[in-house]
Amino acid sequence: MESVIVAIDGPSGTGKSSTSKAVAAELGLSYLDTGAQYRAITWWMISNGIDVSDAAAIATASGKPFIESGTDPAAPTITVDGVDAAGPIRTQEVTSKVSAVSAVPEVRARITELQRSIAAAAEKGIVVEGRDIGTTVLPDADLKIFLTASPEARAARRSGELKGKEASDLATTREALIKRDHADSNRKTSPLAKADDAVEVDTTDLTLAQVIECVVTLVEEKRTGGK
Ligand code: DC
Repeated sequence: MESVIVAIDGPSGTGKSSTSKAVAAELGLSYLDTGAQYRAITWWMISNGIDVSDAAAIATASGKPFIESGTDPAAPTITVDGVDAAGPIRTQEVTSKVSAVSAVPEVRARITELQRSIAAAAEKGIVVEGRDIGTTVLPDADLKIFLTASPEARAARRSGELKGKEASDLATTREALIKRDHADSNRKTSPLAKADDAVEVDTTDLTLAQVIECVVTLVEEKRTGGK
């Protein structure tokens, strides 16, 4: 079976992570959560006392943390300087600051290089999820998917995920999510965007199982297409 590279982009709450992990597991591919990498570098900046509103300070420090991603879809991992960062990168503080840190061009250059080397090393292929994978990181991906959903559906999913971890009501989640998407879509360097050749899948009225099936079918069609 030939190696295949799948790029899955879209805003938060569209089911990107759950879909990407399940598709990778089902097809025996590696999996990379690029949002986790931006969260990890943000966590490092906060932990090291760097003011996230100071782009120059972030740019200067951007080469310091050593970020490693484990790409098994059944148990993805993320470490910073050898320390497990899976828990700390999901806090409200990191979530509220990640857009500012990930907008800094030096951060994007560093993380993009890391992402490309991980994709190149994945022998059987990989599912890479993010915001700019199809447009910037892997423009030659075999298949590009852009997931969307209504703001209401996305906020409902996100507050479901957060339940029990942090107090959050639907309206607050919806507001924070729209604010972050706006920042991610309007930054100068590689904003959240659908690649011209991406397949758009609106997940608003689909179950997770239906989205997974849809993407698996698209990958299989690509693999067998024209052969
Ligand atoms: O997918 P996520 O919510 O964990 O992503 C966290 C943030 O990281 C998101 O708000 C924007 C940034 N990000 C990015 O700029 N580019 C990517 N490819 C992935 C995430």
